[in-house]
Order: sequence, then C-alpha cells, then structure tokens
Amino acid sequence: MPAPPAKPKVLVTSRLPSVALEPLWQTCDVDYRDEPGPIAREAFLARVQSIDGLVCQLSDKIDAELINAAPSLRVVSDVSVGYNNLDVTALKQRGIIATNTPDVLTDATADLTLGLILGITRRLVEGDRLIRRGGWKSGFGLDFMLGTELKGKRLGIIGMGRIGQAVARRAVAFGMTIAYAPSPRAGAAKDQRTQFDGFNATPVIFDELLTSSDIISIHVPLTAETRHLIDQKRLARMKRSAYLINVARGPVVDEAALAWALTEGVISGAGLDVFEEEPKVHADLLTLENVMLVPHLGSATRETRTKMAQLAVNNCLSVLMGKPPLTPIPEMKLESTRQ
Ligand code: DGY
Repeated sequence: MPAPPAKPKVLVTSRLPSVALEPLWQTCDVDYRDEPGPIAREAFLARVQSIDGLVCQLSDKIDAELINAAPSLRVVSDVSVGYNNLDVTALKQRGIIATNTPDVLTDATADLTLGLILGITRRLVEGDRLIRRGGWKSGFGLDFMLGTELKGKRLGIIGMGRIGQAVARRAVAFGMTIAYAPSPRAGAAKDQRTQFDGFNATPVIFDELLTSSDIISIHVPLTAETRHLIDQKRLARMKRSAYLINVARGPVVDEAALAWALTEGVISGAGLDVFEEEPKVHADLLTLENVMLVPHLGSATRETRTKMAQLAVNNCLSVLMGKPPLTPIPEMKLESTRQ
C-alpha cells in the first residue's frame, strides 16, 4: 500500500487559544511553541527549515534571512491586522502568500481607543494613582482634578479605515464631531466622503486636522511614510488643550518629541497603547502624569484574540489545502483572487 501523503508542516511561534489550534492538529504536522512572547531568533531560524506554513505574531520578524532559511514555506499567517513585521517584497519574490487578521479586532480596538480618550481626558489613571499613594486628602472639591468634556469637541482621525470609522461611530455617541485626514505623505486624499455608516465627518487637510482637533487619534499602518508622522513640528501645530491617542503603531509617533510636548505643555495629554520599542517605553513618559500608558492591549479581549487566532489558522490551512487565503494582506489581494 502506498504511504499516505505527508502532512504539511506548520510552525506556530507562540501560544494560541486551543480552540484555534484544533484544526491544525487534525490536518498538519505541527511544531507548536506553547509559550507566550517572541521566539528567539536563532531558534526561529532553525525551526523554519522544513515548514510549509507559519503562524506568527507581530513580534516575529519575517525578513529575507528568515525566508531564505525556509525553502518550502508557502504561507505566512500573521495573527495581527498590522503586518509591518513582514518583508512583503521578499515574500512576493518567493511567491509566499501572507495573510493578516482584519475586521475581527475592529470593535475591541475601537473600544480601547475610547477607553484611552476617556481615561486621559477625565484623568482616571492619574486619580487612581493619587488614591493609591494616599494623596487624596481633601475629599470632594468643586475644582479638584478637573478634566475635559467630550461633548461638542472635535475628534481628528488620522486614517479613516475600519478602526478609524469604528472609533468615530463611538465618539459621535459622546457628542463629538469628526474630522479626518489621510497621512500627508500618502499624497492627496482619495476619499472625500462626508457620510459614513452611522456618522458624518469632515475631510480636512492634515495641517488643519492638527490645528483644529481637540483630540487626535491615529489609525494608520506603520510604513516608511508614516514613521514619525507625528514629530516635534507637528506636535507644536496642535492646540495646547489637545490630546493625542495612538493605538496604531508606536513608531508613527516620535516618542521623545511627545515626551517633550507633554512636559512643556505643548499639548495637554496623550493616551498610548503602542510604543516605539516595545516593551520599552521612553523614560520621560514614565514620570509624567498627563499620559496614560497601556501595554499594547488594543485587541486584547478573550473573544477577539480567539477570533484572530482562528482566522490566522484558517488562512494558513486554506493556502496549504490549495485554496485562496481568506484574508490576504492588501498587497496580495489581487494575486490571490486570480489563483
Ligand atoms: C494588530 O493586530 O495589529 C494589533 O496591533 C495587535 O492586535
């Protein structure tokens, strides 16, 4: 009797919910690293040598060196919507399909964005810190720890994609008005819509977004164009009363410039879920009261992380079974529908 065909080999670089792994165990030869956190580079290079599929996370760098170490690799399935950890050009050159996990994390990320907006404008974490260190001596005071109201304020969204729109929809429920602009380095705005599903928004040029918004929320991917998009010059264009929120990618904001702006009162505050060199945070930010810091939790709900892992596994399996991926990265969308 001929031997059954060999099962495809798949490396899963970090711990995933077991319900998501189930279909992989059934159909593939799985090398599962049942640990949280990034895999060490040497071990990573060694473990990709005979794999057909890779399920990885945003802390795993998939560059030319790694791709060369994996001659039979056919699919890289990132368990994240942002895929700045992938060298897309190198993957394309080798004909390897790359996938990400859009949509499933939109609501969780938008919820967290509103959490940061409310947290920093109403000084929630600052108040918590004050109580814990025994600093609340005066009891209720009419002018004690005053914050800023959202009703009637302008939310400026940089990058009106799925998450930007979900944030806007929520902010409108708090009585905010919405303006939006694409990254200035992305060229002229293609989308000049004023009506979106459930809200209206004003398209503006980038500089107007900076100078007119009470809160600016960043929802663009990290690319060469968006790295340090918010730098010292642009922070200085913002209102002194304004707040900056970043749930996208840390390097979109120049962290040192932000620490300067917060220290000097150039802007009022910031809410950050992402950092330039995670898990490191700029030392000056750690000493400031007017910044709320969260350890990259945008999509961190049980429901969403499970859906992300399931989508990533299904993407990987789809390609290994000879079918088109469910959610290829945008640069590969055309190619995969042509297959
Ligand atoms: C992503 O998916 O890109 C987030 O940063 C992590 O959920």
